[in-house]
Amino acid sequence: VTTPPPGDVGCILVAAGSGGRLGADRPKAFVELAGRTLLEHATSRVLGGGLVGTVVVVVPADLVGRLPERPGRRVVAGGADRRASVAAGLAALPDGIAVVLVHDVARCLAPTSLVGEVIAALRRGHRAVVPGLPVADTIKQVDGRGFVAGTVDRSSLRAVQTPQGFDRELLARAHAAPPGVPPVTDDAGLVERLGEPVLVIPGHRLAFKITTPDDLAHAGWLLAPA
Ligand code: CTP
Ligand code: MG
Repeated sequence: VTTPPPGDVGCILVAAGSGGRLGADRPKAFVELAGRTLLEHATSRVLGGGLVGTVVVVVPADLVGRLPERPGRRVVAGGADRRASVAAGLAALPDGIAVVLVHDVARCLAPTSLVGEVIAALRRGHRAVVPGLPVADTIKQVDGRGFVAGTVDRSSLRAVQTPQGFDRELLARAHAAPPGVPPVTDDAGLVERLGEPVLVIPGHRLAFKITTPDDLAHAGWLLAPA
């Protein structure tokens, strides 16, 4: 069992997407929610527990200069897709970071408690940890003509979220592997391709992803004073 001190935990906050589906006048990370940007919401929740020593914020290239670096925060330009943005964040992680969280700024309401639970599982010796929730809907496969081809047993399904946590060396090795087909959509998927185990811990409803204007409105209601 490894027990990294807080200074050994880094978090890559991926914020370099354009937010096309949100359709705002600026990249999604810089959209405001209850008076703060999504990036500010995400950062304060990640740092809130005092368990994360370094944050690497990955933003669109033209916005790198807009975000001042400070002790414990690096700001780098992202890439063409999420995977490239995570890789840019990994390359900017300082030496001495042994454990890495990768977190979508689009999941900016993911609570500090969830960050702590991911780190706790890493401290128990797991090298790849993802939060996931059981799927409430019935899931069906459909054929090309829109007819049901089958019903999936949902009892073993989990909808996974971020922050996802990794041993740094494992995540770097996973990202160094060639892109496969179909492309993976999360970092755990890259680790799975290496054949390494990925632990799923209970996720949190507040770690939902803000994708559409409806999602942003929902987040606003959740933050509204009672
Ligand atoms: N992301 C990133 N770099 C990219 C694409 C996505 O850092 N080239 C990040 C986003 O900023 C977001 C997370 O990955 O925090 C999940 O992506 P998504 O929710 O799809 O955000 P966007 O790509 O910004 O939105 P859209 O797909 O609607 O354009
Ligand atoms: Mg996207």
